[in-house]
Amino acid sequence: MGYSLERAITKDRIEAGRRTYRKDRKLWDSQLNTVVSRYWGGHRPHFLQKVFLSCKEYPEVFFGGAAGGGKSDALLMGALEFMHIPGYSALILRRTYAQLGKADSIMFRAQQWLAKYPEIRWNEQKHQFLWPNGATLEFGHLQYDKDCWNYDGPAYQYVAFDELTQFTEYQYKFLFGRIRRPSRGLLSKVPLRVRGASNPGGIGHDWVKGRFVTKETAVAPFIPALIADNPSLDAVAYHRMLAELPPILRKQREEGDWEITPDGLIFQSEWFQDYVDQAPVDCYRFRFWDLAATDKKTADYTVGALVAMDGRGDIYIEDIVRGQWNPGKVERVIQATAEADGHSVKIRIEQEPGASGKLTIGNFARLLLGYDFQGIPSSGAKVTRWTPLASAANNGLVKIVNAPWNHDFISELVNVPEVGHDDQADAASGAFLQLANNRPVAVGVSRVRARSQVDTEKDDTRELQKQAMKNTNQDREKVIA
Ligand SMILES: Nc1ncnc2c1ncn2[C@@H]1O[C@H](COP(=O)(O)OP(=O)(O)OP(=O)(O)O)[C@@H](O)[C@H]1O
Ligand SMILES: [Mg+2]
Repeated sequence: MGYSLERAITKDRIEAGRRTYRKDRKLWDSQLNTVVSRYWGGHRPHFLQKVFLSCKEYPEVFFGGAAGGGKSDALLMGALEFMHIPGYSALILRRTYAQLGKADSIMFRAQQWLAKYPEIRWNEQKHQFLWPNGATLEFGHLQYDKDCWNYDGPAYQYVAFDELTQFTEYQYKFLFGRIRRPSRGLLSKVPLRVRGASNPGGIGHDWVKGRFVTKETAVAPFIPALIADNPSLDAVAYHRMLAELPPILRKQREEGDWEITPDGLIFQSEWFQDYVDQAPVDCYRFRFWDLAATDKKTADYTVGALVAMDGRGDIYIEDIVRGQWNPGKVERVIQATAEADGHSVKIRIEQEPGASGKLTIGNFARLLLGYDFQGIPSSGAKVTRWTPLASAANNGLVKIVNAPWNHDFISELVNVPEVGHDDQADAASGAFLQLANNRPVAVGVSRVRARSQVDTEKDDTRELQKQAMKNTNQDREKVIA
């Protein structure tokens, strides 16, 4: 049987259930056969959550749609279903540690649900609940692809990705290698399940859509949640809030719309899948600053993007410095960053029009005496300035250096000009244009030849610069604090 037939059954069931669940509740419940667990914090699953939990025979299921549809609750319920089986292990992942540790996170929710059971021990260091029978529920994060190796030991019978579109496809697939059960005993009867939940949007939108949502390419059931599917939520108040969102984000969050095409959007997330630990030493580099607008009352962001180009013309987004600072702090941060980057990095600052712009650039020129520095008057529409970087990324030339800013940076890029800020797009595009327009003829020849003494010296210099960058980052944090 092809997958599409199974998929149609799921879709039909959902539509029929939405229409008739209230009337024929008993009938539906007997079909869906949900056993409520005492570990679910008193929550009784709603109809769509029951559908999700009933799909036990499917190795993969994706619960994706509108915000507030009850997806995270369902993931946690699923994880807690087999705790009576000795040795059962479940793992729930978020992309970053910060997301995991937030007060309303799924981990925090589990702590609330399980607080009244003193026999279940919480290990803060491992982020793991341990049942007396040896069953475990663990929470983890996977910021970088290389973090997958942190999970290359234990075996799990349930792995759930909350906000799946924030993960890379590599991370998702890697975890399949950790899902197994013994061939005998009680644990052998437990289903092996990978589960995902997410709104549309985010860096993983395209691969998640392809794997679960697009009928022709889907490989596993997709359960589309709507806000109305979660009667525990004050839907009227929530719709009022969502009405304030920018148009694309609103359609994604309010309607769970996976199809809305980013017409007019410039960057696509699949163009930014190439991560490296560092850029080659002998690159040509520009640090481009987009200063917070001085005429705005609310705090705006100042961003400095360090972009490098090697001898082959490959581009590396190497560092992003970003903050909401007053003019005094901006000066200190820019100076500290220049010292950390070193004199080989050329510094450019976007120059506002008029006399005040000239004055600002004059001040920075004095501050950055000894560096290759210029003010660059902004010209043309933003979209025109972003397009060359987008085009290089589309052609597979842009790599991202692994760092904590990666996620925010890519999220912003893939949403401009529709959603939120665009300062990182401005700064990175500014640096890229400088590289493209001032490209030296033979940069990075040594990248393809045997490493020479000169290279080693350059490595040493870069190492020193990196150390300075580390120190200055610490100083910068002190300045900012
Ligand atoms: N069956 C339930 N019983 C009681 N409360 C529920 C139930 N399902 C969900 N909720 C509550 O509704 C709220 C929204 O649910 P949840 O966070 O699971 O939605 P979500 O789809 O993950 O939202 P988002 O898209 O914002 O991540 C939460 O406070 C959750 O605890
Ligand atoms: Mg959620």
